[in-house]
Amino acid sequence: MGNFLAGKVVAVTGAGRGIGRAVALAAAAEGAKVVVNDYGVSVEGAEPTSEVAAAVVKEIEAAGGDAVAVADDISTMAGGQRIVDVALARYGRVDGVVCVAGILRERMLFNMAEEEWDPVLATHLKGTFTAFRAASAVMRKQGHGTLVGFTSGNHQGSVAQANYSAAKGGIISLVRSAALGLHKYGITANAVAPVARTRMSANVPMVLTEIGDPEDVAALVVYLLSDRARQERITGQVYTIAGPKIAVWAQPRELRAGYAEGGWTPERIAEFLPGTVGTDPMPLLTKLEEMARAAAAKERPNAGAPPGGRPGAAGSGAGTASGPGAGTASGSGGGTASGSGAGTASGSGGGTASGSASVPGAGAGPGTGSGPGAAPASSSRPDA
Ligand SMILES: NC(=O)c1ccc[n+]([C@@H]2O[C@H](COP(=O)([O-])OP(=O)(O)OC[C@H]3O[C@@H](n4cnc5c(N)ncnc54)[C@H](O)[C@@H]3O)[C@@H](O)[C@H]2O)c1
Repeated sequence: MGNFLAGKVVAVTGAGRGIGRAVALAAAAEGAKVVVNDYGVSVEGAEPTSEVAAAVVKEIEAAGGDAVAVADDISTMAGGQRIVDVALARYGRVDGVVCVAGILRERMLFNMAEEEWDPVLATHLKGTFTAFRAASAVMRKQGHGTLVGFTSGNHQGSVAQANYSAAKGGIISLVRSAALGLHKYGITANAVAPVARTRMSANVPMVLTEIGDPEDVAALVVYLLSDRARQERITGQVYTIAGPKIAVWAQPRELRAGYAEGGWTPERIAEFLPGTVGTDPMPLLTKLEEMARAAAAKERPNAGAPPGGRPGAAGSGAGTASGPGAGTASGSGGGTASGSGAGTASGSGGGTASGSASVPGAGAGPGTGSGPGAAPASSSRPDA
């Protein structure tokens, strides 16, 4: 047993199986007292049972740890409140909340029913809100606390899981809002986008080249919950962890901008936008097109390396990273623009004007290729 989380009280939702279970076990092994929340449902969210959470509590106790089970539905306000109330009643405080609970209801957007949309949003997005809401009220009074949400590489978009993808995108915005709004109370908030072998990832119809085990993800979450991460002032971040790879996602930012004097008209925009502000192509769409071409040629695009290559392996112990997915990303936003009647342009990237408009933004473009989520990008599944 280590002591990364000695003396801390941590609540984990979805802690009965898969990644959540690994997080609960790892947190307990590092000295935390753990509230194990799991509704005990199928991948689709059906047939709840309290046995799933109870079994993990038994595992923790058998290993010499301290845990308590809460089998409530985290998508309800009462469920979120209960994990915090149980932590306070049993242990007197709550230092960390990790929202891992999730379900899948896969369907193409044009066929998706309300019964497929609502429960997925409720479990992932609202289920993160209910726990964050209840915990942050206590953490604010404590003057410290750590929140961890679970997103997915599929927050970039998904072919047949618009519900899941929208929820996972929402969780990132919720986490960033928590990081901003709770910063002054000593509360940090981060999101994890895992790729790990669980029942949820078991049916992915492709070979995943970058995948690990729930224990890999648990190690990152333990670190984020620890004082070591708090000392580094880590907040508002989104990390992918996929086996040997850890990657940080870029903050969203404007890529290029143009300005018009006298206002825009559709005609001015039609002339100005395509050659200047332009677009930022979707890596996933590019990948889908590559796959379609490969399928037509009877190749197997998923059997080899991920698109854009693999980032350098972490150095032994030190964790140095290299490769196209690590460190700073170089963008493709440079270049000049010639506008026709769209007024002046300005920005931070140093584009020059030709005619009456210019495009800023050199160097600000997002990395493509092996960035987080590249491996999951090509499937409609949440983890693939
Ligand atoms: N496995 C991956 O590769 C992968 C990839 C990307 C994102 N994720 C995300 O990681 C998280 C964990 O995924 P997993 O693969 O371990 O899944 P899993 O199905 O193994 O575990 C999810 C757990 O959540 C519980 N749960 C579902 N609804 C609940 C509710 N309303 N209240 C409380 N508990 C509830 C389930 O009973 C289950 O035990 C999910 O949010 C998932 O979307 C996983």
